[in-house]
Amino acid sequence: MSPSLTVRRIAADQGAVFRELRTASLREAPYAFGATLEDALSADAASFDVIAAKHAVSLTVSTFILYTEGHPAGLIEAHFEDAAPRRAFVCELWVAPAVRHLRGGELLVDTASGWLANEGATEIYAWVADSNRNAMRFYEALGFGPTGEHRRMARAPEQAESLLIRHVPSTTSAVDS
Ligand SMILES: CC(C)(COP(=O)(O)OP(=O)(O)OC[C@H]1O[C@@H](n2cnc3c(N)ncnc32)[C@H](O)[C@@H]1OP(=O)(O)O)[C@@H](O)C(=O)NCCC(=O)NCCS
Repeated sequence: MSPSLTVRRIAADQGAVFRELRTASLREAPYAFGATLEDALSADAASFDVIAAKHAVSLTVSTFILYTEGHPAGLIEAHFEDAAPRRAFVCELWVAPAVRHLRGGELLVDTASGWLANEGATEIYAWVADSNRNAMRFYEALGFGPTGEHRRMARAPEQAESLLIRHVPSTTSAVDS
């Protein structure tokens, strides 16, 4: 039987869980992220407590955690840009290899997107490394498409990443009027 997967917003006291998931993701899939494992390992443990406390309550940035049978098994960040046009992004997505292809990634993206939409987003953006074909196919399967915007990756300037977009479905009913 497939394990049951659930997603919940990070709680203020989950700095240690957040650190564990971040370092696991950077160790397992270093090609997928802007930061490096060394960055995460050298960061003060207290800095993860600060991030968890902020992401638990902020209206502009959050982290959601995937659980399988109650055990943390993945994460995603959702945030709005600081400056106009204040686009809404999902990033730092990772699902533990043992529970991949069970729709945990989809659940994380949909939960993070729902939170952003609830805070006013009408479009959700994601940067994906061009070399990360799995993530490209994953986001395409979820209805994300190209914006045509590209940039060099900060961690590896010889590599490019592309900006993808998914429109939030309108909840306005056409038969209301
Ligand atoms: C990308 C990732 C988050 C997908 O997580 P997941 O839980 O396995 O994905 P889901 O089960 O929700 O997949 C949903 C759909 O996406 C597509 N998909 C997922 N993984 C895929 C892959 N490796 N290749 C092609 N399509 C894939 C499929 O259409 C899938 O539906 P299906 O299983 O019915 O075919 C996971 O592989 C991961 O953590 N990778 C390493 C980190 C990473 O690349 N993060 C993204 C940074 S931009």
